[in-house]
Amino acid sequence: MSSAEKAAQILTKVNNRDIRVLNAIELGMIKSKVVPPRELVRITGFSERRVDFHLNRLYRNDLIYRQSDPFLGYLMNYTAYDLLALNAIVKSRFIDFLGPSIGVGKEADVFEGVTSEDVTVALKFHRLGRTSFRDTKRKREYLAERRHTSWLYQSRLAAEFEFKALQLMYDAGVSVPKPIYQNRHVIIMGYIKGVQLSDIISLEEPEEFLMSILDNMRLVYKAGVIHTDLSEYNIMIDEDGKDWIIDWPQYILTDHHNAEEILARDIGNVAHYFRRKHGTSMSNQEAVDYVKKV
Ligand SMILES: Nc1ncnc2c1ncn2[C@@H]1O[C@H](COP(=O)(O)OP(=O)(O)OP(=O)(O)O)[C@@H](O)[C@H]1O
Ligand SMILES: [Mg+2]
Repeated sequence: MSSAEKAAQILTKVNNRDIRVLNAIELGMIKSKVVPPRELVRITGFSERRVDFHLNRLYRNDLIYRQSDPFLGYLMNYTAYDLLALNAIVKSRFIDFLGPSIGVGKEADVFEGVTSEDVTVALKFHRLGRTSFRDTKRKREYLAERRHTSWLYQSRLAAEFEFKALQLMYDAGVSVPKPIYQNRHVIIMGYIKGVQLSDIISLEEPEEFLMSILDNMRLVYKAGVIHTDLSEYNIMIDEDGKDWIIDWPQYILTDHHNAEEILARDIGNVAHYFRRKHGTSMSNQEAVDYVKKV
């Protein structure tokens, strides 16, 4: 069972006081990797005995780790962070329940969710720090100047960035999932009923698909944004043949010092993929020129 599914299950078993202690660990972890019990007493205002009681419950549900060296302290894991986000999401009435997994990536897990109005949405749980931090840092500009880089913080930042990008792109008329809500490391967005471009074996009118994607990229560029991870894996095609651009946490602005190079790589990836797999004729340079044309 995945971390988020486990969290959804445990969420039905924990009470408000368990959550308060978990919240206190989250707060404590902003300052230090491991949080001593007396800090939890201070933050919650609970007695030492009560904090202990809830720590034991959290521990038994595999939500926290206990460390005894060099001092006794607690830290939470991804399941606990998922639980806190899901708790907020359910309380704010954004979804009623968590559906099946629809994508497991290196740095994110994506699930279906169902709202109280029976609308299917997508929930993306960011999971940074699962791979080595150096790899992550190379890919993500916004981490470059930060000192405090716990996985918790990295993942929340990634979700905030992706949500911001989706809002920008949605407002600019780009074909992206509709941004709905963000809490901690989780974003909720419109659900796309379709498949990744990489999974499509043949297209009847590949030029049309390519041009539609490039039209989208033109809107992105006009809005001052570059995706930076554009490829057949981050483009989805829905049942009506409409293309959608997903996976935005690493976007940059067009005033970035390497903007031209990165844009050329993004657009080149797509043009090259269509030539190789679907036999289109447009060159990388022609595609870039098309996107940049005002
Ligand atoms: N809004 C959505 N609707 C339907 N399916 C989605 C949606 N967003 C993502 N998916 C599915 O989940 C997969 C992974 O999503 P995404 O590309 O955003 O993250 P990721 O690739 O796992 O992240 P990373 O690149 O860090 O590994 C997608 O390829 C797609 O199949
Ligand atoms: Mg992806």
